[in-house]
Amino acid sequence: MNNRPIQLAILGLGTVGTGVVELLQNNLDEMTRRTGREIKITHVGTRRNRTDIPTDIKQSADLLAIIQQDDVDIVVELMGGTTTAKEVILAAIEHGKHIVTANKALLAEHGNEIFAKADANGVKVAYEAAVAGGIPIIKILREGLAANKIDWLAGIINGTGNFIMTEMRDKKRDFADVLAEAQALGYAEADPTFDVEGIDAAHKLTLLASIAFGIPLQFDKVYCEGITKITQQDVRYANELGYRIKHLGFAKRRILDSGEEGIELRVHPTLIPKQVLLANVNGVKNAIMVDAEPVGQTLYYGSGAGAGATASAVMADVVDMVRALAETNDSTANLVPHLAFQPETLNNTRILSSDEMITGYYLRLQVKDDLGVLAEVTRILSESKISIDAILQQPAHDDTSTDLPVIIMVDPVVERNMNEAIAKIEALDTVTDKVIRIRLDELMQ
Ligand code: HSE
Repeated sequence: MNNRPIQLAILGLGTVGTGVVELLQNNLDEMTRRTGREIKITHVGTRRNRTDIPTDIKQSADLLAIIQQDDVDIVVELMGGTTTAKEVILAAIEHGKHIVTANKALLAEHGNEIFAKADANGVKVAYEAAVAGGIPIIKILREGLAANKIDWLAGIINGTGNFIMTEMRDKKRDFADVLAEAQALGYAEADPTFDVEGIDAAHKLTLLASIAFGIPLQFDKVYCEGITKITQQDVRYANELGYRIKHLGFAKRRILDSGEEGIELRVHPTLIPKQVLLANVNGVKNAIMVDAEPVGQTLYYGSGAGAGATASAVMADVVDMVRALAETNDSTANLVPHLAFQPETLNNTRILSSDEMITGYYLRLQVKDDLGVLAEVTRILSESKISIDAILQQPAHDDTSTDLPVIIMVDPVVERNMNEAIAKIEALDTVTDKVIRIRLDELMQ
């Protein structure tokens, strides 16, 4: 067996890159005991020379030169972004380097091309750190649950968003304030709109859905809604009704009435019952619930962002690769397929459009304090075959307003019907504002 050290180039020394360098300094012995082979950083790609990096590691801003070096076996891409990172990763693959990356945006949007190129060149691209920070969810789905048929998964998969929602709910803190703290703590994306508009969660959901169902990556088909429109008022009403609002990603197989199989891919704020475990996942923590046959429901929990959690996932991939390289005498790494299933078996099950999706709803209406208003609203709902689960009518929140807030929770309904009903409700003279709607899921099925 070849026992020379495995050599890494770390590209990008931001929060995560710095975390990886530190982790290797702190836990190298533990990792070497596991791999039986030394792991060494030989290069770092960084724009500015860093004085806190050991002097035996070469530093350079010329990434395309680094990935061609003979003393690099694995390129660890931690720069983020979808332009330079893509160019550098594709070039590294061409030069026969294995890749470890935390770049969910890049893989969700260009992963099909990158994985095909890696397969063609006999190298592997590992991406445990791309989803849910320190939770080894990629390994769980690709390996731990490999004997199962996965029916659905639902997860809190953006740490920044969950941190913001938790602080707003528990401490009544201001959105912008909490976001600034998440940025300072290194949780947020370079562009934090990715976190708060649900784009980061959609990237991660894209990856999870592909390895759960064996379908190509299809980021452009994910329905995506963020947390920016959630108000204290809705958080309070949800609480009174026994629910919490969480930003969740759902990937779900469904058999349509036509008999066709379809897949729902959606990220959005969701009311879930207070007592379910996911409702109690707070702060920067992530959690993913997976429903699979025959194992049933399983749940995975841990830190979703931050240097330590993400570095842990990055190095787990490196350790996996080092073991595989050791076993195969440095030839092609014999790891699991990139998207869990053999590439030629990926199927093209249709991703459902948003109006075909089925969820429960929380609706908040602002209505005039007139006789028969509720009767009109419930008539419209019943005409659209929408079944009401609960109604909460509150007194006006200030004495000057004659409008009343009415909260209606409805059972799961196809979104097309909900859209029709909301349009009719908003057209009523007695309804004085746009209907606020937040999806609702009991997480039972
Ligand atoms: N911005 C991401 C989050 C980082 O907050 O979850 C981890 O992917």
